[in-house]
Amino acid sequence: MIDFNEKTKVFTLSTNNTTYAIGLLDNVLPIHIYWGKKLINPISENWKDRYYARSLSPLDYGKYSTNYLPLEFSPYGGGDSRVSSFSALYSDGSRVTKVKYKGYEITFGKPELEGLPATYAEKGDKVKTLTLTLVDELKNMEFLLYYSVFEEFDIITRSVKIINNGDTAKLHNVLGVNVDFFGAQSSDVIHLDGAWARERAVARNPIVPGNQSIESRIGASSAYHNPFIAVCERNATENRGDVYGLNLVYSGNFYAGVELNSYGCIRSYIGINPHEFEWILEKGRSFQTPEAILVYSDEGLSGMSRRFNKIIRKRVCRGKYRDAERFALINNWEATYFDFNEDKIVEIAKKAKEIGVDTMVLDDGWFGRRKDDTSGLGDWVEMPERLPNGIDGLCKKINDLDMRFGLWFEPEMVNPDSELFENHPDWIIHTKGREPSKTRGQYTLDLSRKDVCDYIVSAVGAILKKANIEYVKWDMNRYMSEVGSALLPAENQGEVMHRYILGLYSVLEQLTSKFPNVLFEACASGGSRYDCGILYYMPQVWTSDDTDAVERIKIQYGTSFVYPYSSMGAHVSACPNHQIGRTTPFDMRCNVAISGQFGFELDLNKCSKEEIETAKKAVENYHKWGEVFHKGDLYRLRSPFDTTTAVNQFISEDKQTVLVCIYPYSLIPNAPDDYIKLEGLEEDAIYEIDGKRFGGDYLMNMGIWHKNDLEYKTQIIEIKKVN
Ligand code: GLA
Repeated sequence: MIDFNEKTKVFTLSTNNTTYAIGLLDNVLPIHIYWGKKLINPISENWKDRYYARSLSPLDYGKYSTNYLPLEFSPYGGGDSRVSSFSALYSDGSRVTKVKYKGYEITFGKPELEGLPATYAEKGDKVKTLTLTLVDELKNMEFLLYYSVFEEFDIITRSVKIINNGDTAKLHNVLGVNVDFFGAQSSDVIHLDGAWARERAVARNPIVPGNQSIESRIGASSAYHNPFIAVCERNATENRGDVYGLNLVYSGNFYAGVELNSYGCIRSYIGINPHEFEWILEKGRSFQTPEAILVYSDEGLSGMSRRFNKIIRKRVCRGKYRDAERFALINNWEATYFDFNEDKIVEIAKKAKEIGVDTMVLDDGWFGRRKDDTSGLGDWVEMPERLPNGIDGLCKKINDLDMRFGLWFEPEMVNPDSELFENHPDWIIHTKGREPSKTRGQYTLDLSRKDVCDYIVSAVGAILKKANIEYVKWDMNRYMSEVGSALLPAENQGEVMHRYILGLYSVLEQLTSKFPNVLFEACASGGSRYDCGILYYMPQVWTSDDTDAVERIKIQYGTSFVYPYSSMGAHVSACPNHQIGRTTPFDMRCNVAISGQFGFELDLNKCSKEEIETAKKAVENYHKWGEVFHKGDLYRLRSPFDTTTAVNQFISEDKQTVLVCIYPYSLIPNAPDDYIKLEGLEEDAIYEIDGKRFGGDYLMNMGIWHKNDLEYKTQIIEIKKVN
């Protein structure tokens, strides 16, 4: 619901449980009035009384201390010296932009964002969009502020379209989205940080005066920081307290943070990173910023996650596999690395089939001169030494086992030792006269060029057409450096990183629509590009190269802050673990991987009889419980960052099944008795655990008894509602 009250000058954006309100100050400036729990009474006209002129603050338009006001949009150049939502260099050398409100429109549904992934409305969804138009009259620039309200999802999305009706301008900052709060000084800021093999660790810090930010400058959303930020009450816990989350639907360089100014106002912001960004906007052209998804929850951090998880699973992810049950797969990477041939792959698949696995994914090494990771990328043709019968021959053998076949590509990259590079040395991201650096022996292809994008679509498309390939693992194993493009004129070189991402999106759009029956899984050295931009095209991501069960508990925990379990690729691998050398019980590895998109990444022919039995049972349970993990509501009961036992609880969509995953990962000698209090049950319903009955109120207020008597003794407890 979106309502505008002419008398009070207030726009009220309501979802089932939340309200977001914007007021027009003197019909000039859109002010952020409120975001939080749903308000029952309309906001009265008295909302304006609290704003006054601050000493030593420049007065914009002769009267507004914009440095202090909670603004919905704040370009650089006036009195507001905080992190700005926009800045540009104009043809007369000036850098000042000043906007005034011009008008509004309320429409049904949600407009598409040209060339960019975004949330979408489906038929029957209660979605409306408010567009506020702001204008800089001197420079003839218009700013359309889009607010789409997803009523049933308790979500608001925001983005900005910049329209230049004046002389050519060079855009420097198109951050676009900020939310300014008052009354939240004693809050914490949360982000997800890490590196390769330890992605998305939860960092929570008090908000202090000044600017606290995270960002990416390397051409991908990255493992260092995720394009997500949350502000929460200092005492907010997993299941209690106010939390505000912002997530960006974008896969490139981003900037996000919070700035607490001297007047108690917190500005939270998220968007394209202004660092090294430039965009020349000619007269009559427009620029669309990526969209931010905004979530408010009064049910703590898990409450925020449930809302993010749901909108992402249902209205960011698309295509056939959004709702369909996914595959239980085997991937040969950790089983063989580059040491394989057709027979070996078929042997691995056969054994996996015996335990119920339905998909064989052939990883790296099947193409061109790819003897190891120093050669071959870019040449998407089979290597006869490893695959004498081609991809179609191997695929047929796998299909004959009644299994699906999947294939690895790394289409955005090229090795210098490849035919592609020999023929097109200027197709890489590079700067004239400087030696391009290699990472893992490879360069990044320049996807800001249309010819490069066309090559990728046709080379990958040719292989997908050739055989019955039903799954693609789309890898990307390096960040950008020495950024530049051979095709762009000097004045446009600052556009390369954003143009690359637009090129990538166009490639993905073409391939995913040409091959709607293929399930695409994203990967970037594991989870180094895990964001909603990617999930729009590929509904799952290889969560991390780190397959150690203990580390994975943490990685999946952090990932679940925003992204649903349905998007997390999770595999059982061999021990000692190849990344960190730890040995964990086989059943623990299964119990940790089972809540994601489940699979194996080892040679089951080398497993003991007991391990095979455990694996078989895990596949059975995966088919039984997959829907609960992927489509149910997640309640994180205990964090692996502050306890010795992490606990996740899932409640199925129909509320009939509850799964409690208990992951003790360090042992307490002679441990005290432990009770795990459940969340979100029906107080007056009766639930059954192993034939024993308990009231919902008892399970939530007393809890289930748990004994931590054996290191790594993980459990998944199934609870059924009986009436
Ligand atoms: C990356 C991926 C791995 C695997 C290898 C293959 O590291 O993250 O899963 O596919 O590439 O080279």
